[in-house]
Parts: sequence; structure tokens; C-alpha cells
Amino acid sequence: MRTAFLPYCRPDITHDEIDAVVDAMSNGWLTSGPRVREFETAFAQASGVTHAVAVNSCTAALHLALLAVGVGPGDEVVTPSLTFVAGAQCAIEIGATPVFCDVDPTTLCAGLEQIAAAITPLTKAIIILPYAGRPFDIRPVVEFAHARGIAVIEDAAHAAGMLSAGTWAGTYSDAAAYSFYATKNVASAEGGMLVTNAPPVADRVRVLSLHGMSRDAWKRYTQDGTWRYDVEEPGFKYNMPDVLAAIGLVQLRRLSEMQARRERIAARYLEELDGIAGLAFQAPPRNAGDRHSWCMFVVKIERERAGIDRDAVIEALKRRNIGTSVHYIPTHHFTAYRRLAHTPLPGTEQVSSQILSLPLFPTMSDDDVSDVVAAVRESIPAAYTSPILMA
Ligand SMILES: Cc1ncc(COP(=O)(O)O)c(C=O)c1O
Repeated sequence: MRTAFLPYCRPDITHDEIDAVVDAMSNGWLTSGPRVREFETAFAQASGVTHAVAVNSCTAALHLALLAVGVGPGDEVVTPSLTFVAGAQCAIEIGATPVFCDVDPTTLCAGLEQIAAAITPLTKAIIILPYAGRPFDIRPVVEFAHARGIAVIEDAAHAAGMLSAGTWAGTYSDAAAYSFYATKNVASAEGGMLVTNAPPVADRVRVLSLHGMSRDAWKRYTQDGTWRYDVEEPGFKYNMPDVLAAIGLVQLRRLSEMQARRERIAARYLEELDGIAGLAFQAPPRNAGDRHSWCMFVVKIERERAGIDRDAVIEALKRRNIGTSVHYIPTHHFTAYRRLAHTPLPGTEQVSSQILSLPLFPTMSDDDVSDVVAAVRESIPAAYTSPILMA
């Protein structure tokens, strides 16, 4: 058994990120300035989406995206319950009502079937999540929504590194909100990026992200800037500082190398955990050109077949010095969200007591991966049987 605790996640920070921070701290900016613009340009180029606006979190990007597509008080926003609370929280902040939809228990994503069941005449926007970075074709959802005047926003918190039929999140939706939180595939400590192919959405998000000040107000301390600016509407303090953009720029440059390592670790889990009775994987992506980002590696523990439940597996892994996490406690289970309406959520209820996320981060060593595999095998008493996919 390993002696040192293996955390669920550890950011992959090299000397390049550290040097970039030192450089950004020495160039006289600290707050939003040239590094942020560079990061936005690089992100737009990498994603193939025309506009990228850096903000200080994915939550901020979701909030501004909802406002920019016209969500207001009294509107409904459909979102899976099986996600982080950020989207629902932003809807409430605007005075709108989150309406929770179910997920497909095999993919852990909400598809057209689950989303359509939650639509009402009040629905103004849908927030969809490629869960763990597993791509799915969102075009039918976008077609369905746009035909009804409903906007589609992608919560792309897990999606850096993901390809859906060869494209990044934000290509087909009205906007996508990436997260650079410490556990994400591109990590800048905190941070987010709103990407969109819709210029009015990009413009409104840019203005709202800095107090509602006119577009070039950030330049007011430069030689070619001006002290004059207008405040077009009350906004928010959501801008990303240069110091964090400097980290993000290096992480984005290193994304393909980090993604390759994630893929190798995921491939080992898929191969070496295959065949354990009662342990099932998230159904793999289906379409040509799809690539899972492996932001998370989720397994389902089916208690009857495994001979142990999910909570006990978590404790057994912890005793073996392996950290795990649960993504997510369904939002409608939380005190603050319990009162809200939702469609029947059988898929969500089924998986909510089964899912757990194993450690997966680029700096894990091959020995770390072996330790996780051994610990999982030792923790699940059921005999090995044929492989089960959730498909
Ligand atoms: C699915 C999902 N959405 C949104 C967020 C919020 O991201 P941020 O912390 O950058 O606001 C997270 C963060 O963990 C997340 O996992």
C-alpha cells in the first residue's frame, strides 16, 4: 500500500508558468492588461471560435452569458441537476428560475430528450454540460432550442482539450464558458473564458465584465488610452488580472501535452479496471472527431453487483491513501435549491449514489496510476466478471 496520500487532483505547474507570473508582476500591470488580451487572442485562435473574453471565473462567464442572451427576471433556465451549482446560482442572481432536467445515466450528460422534457413557454436559455469533458453532439439541442427562441449556453468548465466532431465548445452554441479553476485542464488559479461566435454577445459580456465601462476603458492607463470613459450600464467586477492570464497562456500552450498525459492515464484505467463486477465507466464518445478531455475520470459503483456501495469504496480508497471526489451532489439535493421545480430525475437519482471520480491529473506518475488501480481492485470485493459499459 502506498504511504503518501495521492490527492484527487494537483495542478500541473512548471517553471514556465512561474516565470510567466514573475514576468507579469514585473511589467507594471498586475491587473487586466496586455497579457489578458494575449490570452483572449490565443484562446480564440486555439478554439476556432471568433470571440473570447477573459473573466475571473467560469461562474462569471455563465452569469454574463445569461444576461447577454437576454435572460431576465421571470424567465426559466434549464440546467441539469447533476452539475456544479454555478449555473443555477447565476440564474437566480438574475431573478430567473433554474429548472432542473435529468441526465442520461450512461453518459451523465443531459441530451435533447432530457432537456425537451423541462422546456416550458418561460424557458429562455438552456445550460448544457459535457460532463467530465465527454463530448456529445449538441447540434440537435441547438436546433431544437433556436426554433423556439431559446439560447444554448455550454458550461465548458470541463471542456478544455475536448473535441466534439473536431470542434471546441462554443462553436455551435450561443456561448461557452470555460473554467480555469485549479482542478481544470487549463488552470490559472481562478479564471474563466467566454467564447462565442456572436459579436453582440461578446461585446455585452466585455462591457458588463468591467463595471459596464466602455470597451477600451482598460487602456486608460496606457499612453494611447484616454482618461475618458462611459459607463453604458451597471455591470460587474469580473475582469481577469494579467498575473492569472500569464499562467493561463502557458497552460494553454501546454494543453496538448497535458491532454496526451490525461489520455494515457484514462486509457490505463479503462484497460486495467475493466472487468470488475459492479464497476462501470461513463459511456465513451460516439462520433468521429470526438475527444474526451478527461477532466475527470468517473466510475459508477453498482452496489448489488460490486458487493459494496460507493461511499464505502471512497472510505476504502482513503484508507489506502487514494483521494477521490464526487461530481456532483445533485443541485436539487441542496438545502438552497430543494424548493425548485424539476422534471422527474430518475437518471440523476440513480447515479447520484453511484458515481465517484478517481485521481486523474497530468503529473500523476505511472506508479500512482498503478496504486489507484490496485486500491480500487482491493476495495471492491466482487469477483471479476465480463466488462460492463454503461452504454
Ligand atoms: C461544471 C462546472 N461548472 C462551473 C464551475 C465553476 O467554475 P469556476 O470556479 O471557474 O467559477 C465548475 C467548477 O468547478 C464546474 O465544475
